[in-house]
Amino acid sequence: MDKLQAMQRMERLSEELRQHNYNYYVLSKPVIGDYEFDTLLAELISLEKKYPEFADPCSPTQHVGGGITKEFRQVVHRYPMLSLGNTYSEAEIRDFEERIHKLIGDEVEYVCELKFDGVAIGLTYRQGLLVQAVTRGDGIQGDDVTTNIKTIRSIPIKLRGEGYPEEFEIRGEIILPHSSFARMNEQRMEDGEEPFANPRNAASGSIKMQDSAEVAKRRLDGYFYHLLGNDLRFATHYESLVAAKSWGFKVSDFTVRCRSLDEIYDYLKTWDQGRYDLPFDIDGIVIKVNDLRQQEMLGFTAKSPRWAISYKFKAEQAATRLLSVVFQVGRTGAITPVANLQPVQLAGTVVKRASLHNADIIALLDVRIGDMVFVEKGGEIIPKITGVDLGQRPAGAKSLSFISTCPECGTALVRAAGEAAWYCPNETECPPQIKGKLEHFISRKAMNIDSLGEGKIEMLFDNGLVHHCADLYDLTYERMIGLEKSYGAADDKREKRVSFREKTVTNILNGIAESKKIGFERVLYAMGIRFVGETVAKKLAAHFISVDKLTAARYDELIEVEEIGEKIAQSILRWFSEPKNIELINRLKIAGIRFEMAESLVPLLGSQLNGMTFVVSGVFENFSRDELKKTIELHGGKNTGSISAKTSYLLAGTNMGPEKRKKAEKLGVPIISELDFVLMVREE
Ligand code: IVH
Repeated sequence: MDKLQAMQRMERLSEELRQHNYNYYVLSKPVIGDYEFDTLLAELISLEKKYPEFADPCSPTQHVGGGITKEFRQVVHRYPMLSLGNTYSEAEIRDFEERIHKLIGDEVEYVCELKFDGVAIGLTYRQGLLVQAVTRGDGIQGDDVTTNIKTIRSIPIKLRGEGYPEEFEIRGEIILPHSSFARMNEQRMEDGEEPFANPRNAASGSIKMQDSAEVAKRRLDGYFYHLLGNDLRFATHYESLVAAKSWGFKVSDFTVRCRSLDEIYDYLKTWDQGRYDLPFDIDGIVIKVNDLRQQEMLGFTAKSPRWAISYKFKAEQAATRLLSVVFQVGRTGAITPVANLQPVQLAGTVVKRASLHNADIIALLDVRIGDMVFVEKGGEIIPKITGVDLGQRPAGAKSLSFISTCPECGTALVRAAGEAAWYCPNETECPPQIKGKLEHFISRKAMNIDSLGEGKIEMLFDNGLVHHCADLYDLTYERMIGLEKSYGAADDKREKRVSFREKTVTNILNGIAESKKIGFERVLYAMGIRFVGETVAKKLAAHFISVDKLTAARYDELIEVEEIGEKIAQSILRWFSEPKNIELINRLKIAGIRFEMAESLVPLLGSQLNGMTFVVSGVFENFSRDELKKTIELHGGKNTGSISAKTSYLLAGTNMGPEKRKKAEKLGVPIISELDFVLMVREE
């Protein structure tokens, strides 16, 4: 392929991918399969690497992410981001309608919309291209989160259709659909992190992440509902939404025009129930005056527009009896109080259990066994207890006290400063923690021993055959054959009978043997160090190359690694300071587990940088610092931390300290950009 052909192919791929994204994420009507899509995308990514000079800054590859934002720039909103007046009853909506009627006099048409429960965002487009995405912040100024927002596949980086103004802003809400939320929390719990309480918090945390490639994995979505700009020639709000839709924005299909209060009430009733069938959270509806001239006449109060109002749904509540409270111990040792309830119907499901969150909430509610309690389903998946009907408290009901020792192993619980949860600190001997660690160790993204599962791990543990993950490598055919046990009550459909016959045992042993080939980054993830999830493990492995170097790393060396902050660094230091953990590593090493990056897996890609020494500093557009350092090594070059006369190049990103630049200039070390570097290592 010559250069011209490459350029044409890149343009074509961009167009096709843009259309497929639109079909899939906006219209929900894909016309090709995931595999085909991924193949086209991979082709474009590789062409962009080879011909960076032709890469379109608005290419659909931007949705994949990769850019790092160390600190979000503050941006002042061109139009302040106001909030809406809230109402909670039909009477208040009637008051709103009467007020408008008095001020306008004429017939007024309204638009009713869903009130998305997410994070407000303002996107600026210039000449059809997304140039800036800013969060609400305090309404006056917010954070520039453009790189992260570009990873959301339903958001157009380049507009479709025609007729859009030279420049405009569109506002909407970034949301996390229920399916993405559930998947993300599962992963967080597997990584020993606190799950997010609800999709809104998760969305808000996600758009403020430093690594946009991580944001891309979160599967955020966005709905848009407000256009702003000097050059908008629409007569009505509804018309502007239809236009926005034609430009490629996701605009809700459930936006309707209403001509009377009754129609508004109908809409409200429909969605008060209908919201439970939506794949994302809404917390109310928004009612807006449709005519833009009338909107202008009505204007704003200091805080909100007079032409719109929101109606907030009441959280659906049920009252039921609290039967008992149990305390569960999780894999990380976190204690969760769970209430067993008299089964009750709530928002379409029967609720038998509810979360009591933590000790503070129990004390605050002063909830007692036998109480009539109120249960609510908010954004949270697990219902929560929000109050007590004191009028129905049985005589003599005693206050609930939080346990002080672990219900599984009896160890005194601890609570770290600033954390809500109590923990059982007995990481190595507390049964659910041991079993949880073993389950994590064998899980797909860790050592991937799929011939073992929860039931088999439990059996091996109960029979005293495995306690630490290193014990797995001492298992033999003779020790396992013939073990048998059933789990769950006999009348429970989930009852499982596990028996170790020849085939099972051979499969287990094969799976364990296979796991010795697993790469260092996954082994590190498998250790279950708190806050060291899949991504952090990858970054640590790439940076330190071997567990010995990681064990010896000091605090300042750890926080030098991208994504590693104080909390993660402290957790790593704590883990490696435990003699038991060092012993575990040694046993696993003897068993043949990989504790360093295999040289054979990182062959030299070229020798262009032979004999050259680089200092990489700052933040880069397309690569992380670690990726650049790795690329230098893979092409025969060396990395150092500080500039000297021997340094061949200073590879400089943005936000590089001025001292480095000065020193390089003084010593005559050439300063090169990311693009210069790409050109240096590019295959000819
Ligand atoms: S219109 C000037 N429409 O609710 C008013 N807002 O409480 C512009 N929201 O800050 C807002 N869905 O983040 C509007 N369909 C919708 C909405 C919506 C959710 C959020 C938005 C706003 C907040 C106001």
